[in-house]
Amino acid sequence: MTVGKAHFVISNTDVSKCPNTPLPEYAFIGRSNVGKSSLINYICNQKNLAKTSSRPGKTQLINHFLIDDKWHLVDLPGYGYARVSKSKKKVFQKFITQYFEKRKQLITAFVLIDIRHEPQAIDLAFMRWLGEHYIPFALVFTKSDKMKPSQIQKKVDAYTAQMLETDWEALPPVFATSSTSKMGGEELLNYIHTLNQEANQKR
Ligand code: GTP
Ligand code: MG
Repeated sequence: MTVGKAHFVISNTDVSKCPNTPLPEYAFIGRSNVGKSSLINYICNQKNLAKTSSRPGKTQLINHFLIDDKWHLVDLPGYGYARVSKSKKKVFQKFITQYFEKRKQLITAFVLIDIRHEPQAIDLAFMRWLGEHYIPFALVFTKSDKMKPSQIQKKVDAYTAQMLETDWEALPPVFATSSTSKMGGEELLNYIHTLNQEANQKR
């Protein structure tokens, strides 16, 4: 699948004000600066659809994008970045939590992880929390262009091995991507396409 039309719909801090449609929805979440907004731009083939920055803490709202009039992509603020003030962090945490708890249209969360890093407690805890709330998720490694191609699969395997050792009996779907070198986007979109078809059959 490729994306034809993609446009910004609305920004919110309140999940109850998010678009009131039954369209299937997918949210990108992860640490600040991991590349959530860049990945949205890459898979939608647009430079400035979602706002990106080299400074962490750029995305501060729940941002809905309508794709091909059929589904929503959601860009969220990052979690766990120290340079955002404590009070702001709390506010982010509250509306992100409410988004995941309340948003019925959410089909799957894509949890983004910088492929260069060892598993971080905050990401593992967030995935545990999703599991406890029965929220399906997939794992998306970002910035794969920063690794030698021969190291990418090894890094992914090491990460998922740790997940299996600690919290999980089975692994979620896993994608290795790079917005810079345009890698992995097609696989991600094909996965979303499959989930959209399943969601539409259920409706
Ligand atoms: P917040 O909105 O602050 O939570 O960050 P974010 O997760 O949306 O990250 P964003 O897309 O703004 O990207 C952060 C920085 O990482 C920017 O400087 C991007 O250019 C860079 N970046 C994003 N994706 C990639 C990638 O695939 N490869 C490389 N090398 N850099 C990337
Ligand atoms: Mg962002």
